[in-house]
Amino acid sequence: MAEHVYISQIGEHVGQEVLIKGWLYNRRSSKKLRFLQLRDGSGFIQAVAAIGEIPDAKFELADRVPQESSIIVRGLVRKDERAPFCGYELGLIDFDVVTESAEYPISKKDHGDAFLMDNRHLWLRSYKQHTILQVRATIIKAIRDYFDNHGFVLVDSPIFTPAACEGTTTLFETQYFDQKAYLSQSGQLYQEAACMALGKTYCFGPTFRAEKSKTRRHLTEFWMVEPEVAYMDLDGDMDLAEDFLCYVVGRALEKHGAALRERLERDIKPLENVQKPFPRISYDDASVQIAKIRDAVTDPELKESLKLEPNDDFGSPHETELTKRFDRPLMVHHYPSAVKAFYMKKDPQNRERALCVDVLAPEGCGEIIGGGQREDDLASLLAEIDRHGLPRSAFAWFLDLRRYGSVPHAGFGLGVERTVAWICGLHHLREAIPFARTMDRLAP
Ligand code: 4AD
Ligand code: MG
Repeated sequence: MAEHVYISQIGEHVGQEVLIKGWLYNRRSSKKLRFLQLRDGSGFIQAVAAIGEIPDAKFELADRVPQESSIIVRGLVRKDERAPFCGYELGLIDFDVVTESAEYPISKKDHGDAFLMDNRHLWLRSYKQHTILQVRATIIKAIRDYFDNHGFVLVDSPIFTPAACEGTTTLFETQYFDQKAYLSQSGQLYQEAACMALGKTYCFGPTFRAEKSKTRRHLTEFWMVEPEVAYMDLDGDMDLAEDFLCYVVGRALEKHGAALRERLERDIKPLENVQKPFPRISYDDASVQIAKIRDAVTDPELKESLKLEPNDDFGSPHETELTKRFDRPLMVHHYPSAVKAFYMKKDPQNRERALCVDVLAPEGCGEIIGGGQREDDLASLLAEIDRHGLPRSAFAWFLDLRRYGSVPHAGFGLGVERTVAWICGLHHLREAIPFARTMDRLAP
């Protein structure tokens, strides 16, 4: 009786007869040959039979079993460098169809994005999406390992929250018995409480923003990891972000370097460049550079999009053009306080500037990390809460952190989907999360 094995382990079974339990990914026939391409969740492999090598009825069936039928295949494992997918091939001995599939909507031909997203529950089975989800899982594991191995304690922040963290314009409001609640935009405020109890903490979970713009970089539900450290300043925060990012990219390359190159056609050279130190420039210096870039640009549309008034926040054209000039992630610090959230500490040397940092990924992938030092002075924080029109009552507990042994502290948030999109070389975030939620998509 042949043993059931997973395709990912097939290399350990060369020369043996095995069973693969999976689905028919694709098939091809010639007069004398049958090729069954199989997937079993762990990987993809091709099984081959010549006429006479399997029962006649099966040889005939192998020419018409529908794509995505579930199928159990018995075969002999052979190593073959030229074999598609994995460098191994199965000499087909026999197979049984578990359930014949109805006509599968996703074929080899090109489908539009909307069609594929409508069929996301099926599209996940494709070779490319399968690879992306594996890389995503590795990135998430690397993120957790980094913090777990560096003395951080995981402290989960709540999802139902009574107040805004990142501005009131992107809040999802929901009824919470007889009061209003909001879905969390960021776990940060709770990490600030947690780090005063445990020193170095992080949370990792879904966050929600009612992003009313339809861009390729915005989801309404995305995953964010947020470390927070007591007694850390902005420089320490940048050191942490840099070290952390190098580790995550390194782990992704180590495990999936070949898959990124071969399956996703990702040029991995820029990822190999992700080594310390990252360039660090202030918002003011970055603005000067952007102005120079703009002067040199001839395309009128691009020129227009690179306009920047004093103290304007950068948009994605600014970020894209700026990061093109660097071969690794770029850290931009000291943005104008006016464009940043209420909790950011102002630079004591220049209160117009915040002690904050954005990490911009290369290759036009935009901001992947936002963070900085937090306002630790009670009076200044109160003033900012008022200036932003936020209700003091909802922040009473947060203000307590400044009453009882306040210390400098800092942290950041890394968006998982932007990181996955960057590492995998994806144009749109919708492929970086299993089931994307955007302004115009809530299904499947
Ligand atoms: O810069 P943001 O808004 O920072 C915060 O939320 C801080 N409270 C984090 C902290 O300091 N603890 O968001 C952080 C990151 C961004 O850099 C980006 O990677 C991602 O979260 N992000 C989004 N990803 C997908 N879709 C969206 N709509 C996103 N908004 C932010
Ligand atoms: Mg940001």
